[in-house]
Amino acid sequence: MVINTNLKQNNEPSERAIAKEIELTFQWTKNWYPISPIDYLDPNSPNSMKLLGKKLVIWKNNQDDWVVMDDVCPHKLIELSSGKIDSNGENIVCRYHGWCFDSQGNCTKIPAIDSKDSAAETACQSDRAKVNTYPTRVVQDLLWVWPDDNREAQTESLSSQPATMPEDILDTSNSKWFMVEVPVGYAVAENLLKF
Ligand code: FES
Repeated sequence: MVINTNLKQNNEPSERAIAKEIELTFQWTKNWYPISPIDYLDPNSPNSMKLLGKKLVIWKNNQDDWVVMDDVCPHKLIELSSGKIDSNGENIVCRYHGWCFDSQGNCTKIPAIDSKDSAAETACQSDRAKVNTYPTRVVQDLLWVWPDDNREAQTESLSSQPATMPEDILDTSNSKWFMVEVPVGYAVAENLLKF
């Protein structure tokens, strides 16, 4: 006899079965994540962060927008977070050979190639010279990121709102966010939030 232990006596699926189903169907990258309190970020230098196993670099451009992109230079795979923001606030600059990338992840300069040389334009426009960037929002003093790297990510992110705290229980004038790393899965975190 086969017994399905996931069914309660009234044949409803157990909580464990529902959680498993959610885990199998949940699209992890197609959601907003509060990656950091704004207070924690240095607006003058690249910040490194890890989310869902991805290494990310966060920086602020001259439009006051926070940019989140993969923390990897396409040239030699060095971390862009070890570089700097250029003096115009338009690009993040790789520390090693000075390749520059704008807020959309486009390569804008390769110092080793004369910018008047057509080879420079060709090299910069190559897909291989581009860095993945991600949609961001600032809500309730938190930086939110949509960590999906498909071409439709910007459009898809508009269809969903960050899961913010209800305004009536959030007193931002009297409280600050803090961030700690906790070695638990989402299920434990969710249970903690119930209390
Ligand atoms: S490793 Fe980044 S420019 Fe060379």
